[in-house]
Amino acid sequence: MPRKNNYHITKDKVVPFLKWAGGKRWLITQYPELFPKNFNRYIEPFLGSGAVFFHLQPQKAILSDINRDLIDTYRGIKTDWESVWNILKKYHKDHSEDYYYKIRSRNFDELKKGAARFIYLNRTCWNGLYRVNREGVFNVPIGTKTNVILNTDDFGKISRLLKGAKLLVSDFEIIVQKAEKDDFLFVDPPYTVKHDDNGFIKYNDRLFQWEDQIRLSECLLAAKKRGVKILCTNANNLLIRKLYKNNFFIKRVNRHSVIAGNSLYRGSCKELVIYT
Ligand SMILES: C[S@@+](CC[C@H](N)C(=O)[O-])C[C@H]1O[C@@H](n2cnc3c(N)ncnc32)[C@H](O)[C@@H]1O
Repeated sequence: MPRKNNYHITKDKVVPFLKWAGGKRWLITQYPELFPKNFNRYIEPFLGSGAVFFHLQPQKAILSDINRDLIDTYRGIKTDWESVWNILKKYHKDHSEDYYYKIRSRNFDELKKGAARFIYLNRTCWNGLYRVNREGVFNVPIGTKTNVILNTDDFGKISRLLKGAKLLVSDFEIIVQKAEKDDFLFVDPPYTVKHDDNGFIKYNDRLFQWEDQIRLSECLLAAKKRGVKILCTNANNLLIRKLYKNNFFIKRVNRHSVIAGNSLYRGSCKELVIYT
């Protein structure tokens, strides 16, 4: 039996500390009924800004993403949020165009410094975009936002929430395979398919291919057969619907997109929610 409630009993609102393409805060606030109330572990293999994790605040979680710098940022906050915060305060004071490009060109070995760099660039780069070149080097130019410290920041609380979470750098398949009966798997892959009405987004140096969409649908079906509770989002695309329609419930939902710089992709458009 799943534990009656895997959520923290008193939940303060926690705003994700990163701006991330495809962030799912809108989904959990507009469609809370789609999310299960009871489950054992919370498992999220495409973490990004972790909007759903921060909303649900589960006590036990596995959080994973293929982006090492992203996961190391969570690790930095989990283990030493005060140091990350102190470096960010300095960045806030020193921010300028020259300073942005100086920090962008640097590599830090220490988790706390790498985490502060990642958050600084995320908050001051063009449109909060994450893009790397062929060598895996972040190459987004400076944007118009200058606030490095936000009044929604509560790194102490985020660090406490992360104490119950395992943070992994991994391809999704290995993480999905870890899910057992009554775990809740929230799956939000990049929507990089032959799309009809969605933006084409490059998150990492390796694109998410159609073969990955097939691989994802196969491992989600295997997880469903093990009794895992699943909620997966995807592009409202005929080929995606075909992949899931025989084994999952599918619902079209409305999102309001604001991250893409191209106004073509702004506004309201439908996405799919695929669930058990
Ligand atoms: C749509 S975003 C997730 C957004 C997240 N739900 C949020 O609220 O911010 C997709 C994420 O998948 C990650 N990703 C891309 N390919 C992956 C793969 N093969 N395995 C695991 N993660 C991957 C990207 O780094 C990106 O963070």
